Amino acid sequence: MDKILVHGGRPLSGSVRISGSKNSALPILAASLLTRDRCVIHCVPDLSDIHYMLQILSHLGAHVERASGTVIIQAEKISTVAPYEIVRKMRASVCVLGPLLGRHREAKVSLPGGCVIGDRPIDLHLRGFRALNAACRVEAGDVKVFADELRGSTVDLEGKQGPTVLGTDNVMMAATLAEGVTVIEGAAAEPEVVDLAHFLIKMGAKIEGAGTRRITIEGVKELHGAEHSVIPDRIEAGTFLVAAALAGTEVTLRRVNSDHLKAVLNSLTDAGFRMDVQRDQITVHGNGSPRPLELITEPYPGFPTDMQAQMCALLSRANGVSRATETVFPQRFMHVSELKRMGADIELDGATAIIRGPSQLSGAPVMASDLRASAALVLAGLVANGLTEVNRVYHIDRGYESIDEKLAGLGAHIERVKDRSH
Ligand code: EPU
Repeated sequence: MDKILVHGGRPLSGSVRISGSKNSALPILAASLLTRDRCVIHCVPDLSDIHYMLQILSHLGAHVERASGTVIIQAEKISTVAPYEIVRKMRASVCVLGPLLGRHREAKVSLPGGCVIGDRPIDLHLRGFRALNAACRVEAGDVKVFADELRGSTVDLEGKQGPTVLGTDNVMMAATLAEGVTVIEGAAAEPEVVDLAHFLIKMGAKIEGAGTRRITIEGVKELHGAEHSVIPDRIEAGTFLVAAALAGTEVTLRRVNSDHLKAVLNSLTDAGFRMDVQRDQITVHGNGSPRPLELITEPYPGFPTDMQAQMCALLSRANGVSRATETVFPQRFMHVSELKRMGADIELDGATAIIRGPSQLSGAPVMASDLRASAALVLAGLVANGLTEVNRVYHIDRGYESIDEKLAGLGAHIERVKDRSH
């Protein structure tokens, strides 16, 4: 397995281009199953999760071509069964259910196993499908959904932990080809849901309200091919903002959408960082000594759970006591024990991390456990004394395109050690 080695203490400066959003691209690629026509998707990041999604689409019978950031998909004739071997590597494979149900009125997709960031149920996805008149069964590790007729209706997708992003995507996709009108109450309002809706509208879907808590979809008979560019990845951008805040002198992020980053930008401003924010570009001036913060993760437009781990790394350098509370995935604190091994003073109290700083971090061998936790360890390594060795970097490769090369381009002393044993 590859490792990333970070030699701490090198200041970052210069500029970095942000890639297309993983969490937009995944459902958008799946949505191309809704038509037999050709779909052309640009700004698709080169990530292992994207690779898994393209494998699933190919397995289902779609013709997939990929040239640098552009993916061309034609799903002329497809099957409706995605087996365990092909979906097990990625939770997001569940988002082929909606398009298959919409187009063929049936789907059987194996359920991927557990996930370190906590329980990942799909009860709300199924609640939405049932509201569309589909029958849903979970048996022998598979979820099977089918309907003689898909009929629009009103469904509330708000769960105990708030709205669901992929659940909203799934029900919205199925509803585009249902009879009549579907209203999703308690919908997720994340920019990735809006990006998917824009793509579906280009395909001929009738959707209103994406980006609000109520989405209305008027079913159509069929959808056609479309061309689309995926929005910039707000979590990759947020991660580079934190890298710049921690270790930067002056760093500019290019191809961002600043509107999608308001909560993260507000937190960094509260922590004392100066930023020059334009619509598609942000320059951060690092200062090395942030003020402590109280952070609470929430659904969009609140502070994103996908940035909580990176902020814990930053706040370990703040002068005073910070708190980071998870409301979306209350168990998502895998980074805490590894950051502590690097010298951070963090205590967990239920779903709150209490971070006492400033700590001088020291390099150590650490283990990546999930995507964002791994990013936090790389960030901590940038300001730690000595060498940080991040193992199991396949977690990082799921969601960050060339993070080592991009950080090296900003001046970090970082290298990837390839495992040649396979
Ligand atoms: N939930 C349910 N029932 C459901 C679905 C979700 O109870 O049927 C709960 C979850 O357990 C969680 C909350 O609702 O407590 C929110 O989960 P959500 O469904 O919104 O998560 P997701 O759609 O599976 C996406 C992103 C995650 C991101 C979350 C929250 C993709 C591929 N994944 O997951 O991204 O953390 O939304 O914003 O879009 C990541 O990129 O590192 C990542 C984990």
